[in-house]
Amino acid sequence: MPIHHLASAGELHLRNEQLSYVLRLSPRGRPELLHFGGPIDPELSHGHLVPPVVAWCTEPGRPECPTPGSGDFGAPALVLEQADGSSTLELAYVGHRILAGKPAIPGLPSTYVERDEEADTLEVELADARSGARVFLVYTVFRDLAVVARHLRVVNGGDAPLTLRCAMSASVDLPGGAWELTQLSGGWARECQVVRRPVAPGSQSIGSLRGHSSHHHNPLLILERGDTTEERGDAYGLSLVYSGNFLAEVEASADKIRARIGIHPGAFSWKLAPGEELCTPEAILAYSAEGRGALSEAYHQLFRERLARGPWRDRPRPVLLNSWEAVYCDFDEERLLRLAAEARDLGVELFVLDDGWFLGRDSDQTSLGDWTPDPRKLPGGLARLGRAVEAMGLGFGIWIEPEMVSQRSQLFAAHPDWAIGSPGRTRTEYRHQRVLDLSRPEVVEWIFQAIAGLLRSAPIRYVKWDMNRSITEPFGGMLPAERQGEFFHRYVLGVYALYRRLADAFPEVLFESCSSGGGRFDPGMLACAPQAWTSDCTDAMERLATQWGASLCYPLSSMGAHVSAVPNHQMGRVTSLETRGAVAFFGVLGYELDPGALEDGARAILRDQVAFYKAHRELLQRGRFFRLVSPFEGDRNHASWMCASRDAQRAIVGYYRVLQHVGEPSHLIRLRGLDPAARYRVSAWPGSEPGAGGDAFVIRGGDELTRVGLLIPGESDAGPRQGDFGSRLFVLERCWGVPVPHPPVIP
Ligand code: GLA
Repeated sequence: MPIHHLASAGELHLRNEQLSYVLRLSPRGRPELLHFGGPIDPELSHGHLVPPVVAWCTEPGRPECPTPGSGDFGAPALVLEQADGSSTLELAYVGHRILAGKPAIPGLPSTYVERDEEADTLEVELADARSGARVFLVYTVFRDLAVVARHLRVVNGGDAPLTLRCAMSASVDLPGGAWELTQLSGGWARECQVVRRPVAPGSQSIGSLRGHSSHHHNPLLILERGDTTEERGDAYGLSLVYSGNFLAEVEASADKIRARIGIHPGAFSWKLAPGEELCTPEAILAYSAEGRGALSEAYHQLFRERLARGPWRDRPRPVLLNSWEAVYCDFDEERLLRLAAEARDLGVELFVLDDGWFLGRDSDQTSLGDWTPDPRKLPGGLARLGRAVEAMGLGFGIWIEPEMVSQRSQLFAAHPDWAIGSPGRTRTEYRHQRVLDLSRPEVVEWIFQAIAGLLRSAPIRYVKWDMNRSITEPFGGMLPAERQGEFFHRYVLGVYALYRRLADAFPEVLFESCSSGGGRFDPGMLACAPQAWTSDCTDAMERLATQWGASLCYPLSSMGAHVSAVPNHQMGRVTSLETRGAVAFFGVLGYELDPGALEDGARAILRDQVAFYKAHRELLQRGRFFRLVSPFEGDRNHASWMCASRDAQRAIVGYYRVLQHVGEPSHLIRLRGLDPAARYRVSAWPGSEPGAGGDAFVIRGGDELTRVGLLIPGESDAGPRQGDFGSRLFVLERCWGVPVPHPPVIP
């Protein structure tokens, strides 16, 4: 049983092999955090770690649910305004219960268990006698993962309305001292850039008020002691299973830091009539004593296996060709079928028709909402096209953007009031489109029927669900004035309801989420769609950075990664097909170009890439991922990462160099996830010497590869001069002591 109650000391201890999370139920009723970190003895009291509050000091130690006005002067987790306008609460401990397993959170995506033995859940109930508010702090500890899931449930048990002004999913007070904060920030087409900075006194935060989690900041914070690396040291993560406005903040005071994460209070309030309740989204707290790498691995495993759901969770993800950068909106059935045939000849498994297939959609200026195939381009509709694609032996998929409406559309003409906007105010222009008011159940119902009809009308196996604009002039058309603060959250609840209904109705469809690339790349979406379009930028060098950053928290099976044409459409940069492939392999591989426009030689390279990826797909999509050389650190000119099978039998290493310099030295890259006692056959792919093919190999010890490193030859060692944007791929296979005389040297 991973949750222990030490009644004599009033302590509750969540524990597994990798972490302990110890709470004290203080006499004043506020649960306090005594310890979050490495596992410690659950039969001993740990109360001495945080001395109890003394009479002359009002400031509580490390409250798990800080509220304003009663002695805690830090950032609150819960602000509950009462009928008289006061937000002061005196939350007293009422009781707690421990449940096997993990209950779902109504209306919200969350992590889950398949068997009750996988986790235990603790609910601590607190109450404020005067207002009647009841607050449940809910914690789940997984048996085999270094994570604790937390959320809050607030119930109005009184007889007057209450208004939530702030309801964070988790607030964690950790000891003070030197901390480093890592966040994933950026913007459109350069999402998930790793930003690391020392925690300074005062507060530092990231967040979104755009209605979606945003390209600008990802709902993740990593806190580390200053000397933590990929392999060593304490690392803590806070991630939020949510796709809307969020706040993630660290506040450092004299003797502690407080990290909190949840719905952004800056555009949120929620009215609780007597008897009503609200559950917050789930926060995932992770801990690693073995550096950032192990922290990421805990998130990867949880998100891949117990957040993603449905039949596609464990299935190999198909290699796809997406029509967007190949033809944009300029196509007809014949052109698409030619593209599909080219894709089939490469070994691609799924043909995806992106934007531009519905009534009058020749640019981004019209037609969103009119989900009927355009007879000018598709006289036989999606059905005939889909059947023809299937007849080639490919799956067929489409792009939709169901949350949107174009002003020039039949839907807007019929229901102008369904588009979000504040009455009487000018609407902010944004990509010629408006967002539908998904806080209204009838709008969700209409979209469900429209998309369900579409999915029934043709053999559609995959859906790319896009969301291309932020929400401005937020206003819920059916919400009374005092509930307008609920709009953003109700919108997100509408999105989740729609996703859930469609995923339930079409379990065999593979959904990929998208928001102009990674504008809604978050754990909430991962629960809806097991993969996401990581970024609209397909340039290999830019993708190195974005995929590296995203991997801090998200598994490779969730990251769509496509090889596109050069000059790259977003950057104008020219990289080799080999480098484009070597980056896209570390994700869910796809192509986004017209193979018919390439030379035969280039097509042959693509064919080899697809075959290589399929042969190693299990390893690349579900293996252990290790970051080796960061594109964000050091000379920023090199990067390397690898996937290793869980049994350490096989591995693939990717090595990348941005700019070639004269006299480039050799590099030794220490590999991970291998068995130091084993030997490995190391080959370069697709073979580095002309004529050598994939046959050149060397035998190296796992000890050498992990303790000394894999040698990447420099120029002086007759290494390859690939020019700028070079890359190398190495395939490692364990060999069983077979002596190999004079193996050839990898050049
Ligand atoms: C967004 C997506 C792209 C593409 C276009 C189509 O920008 O991120 O991949 O689907 O929309 O309009």
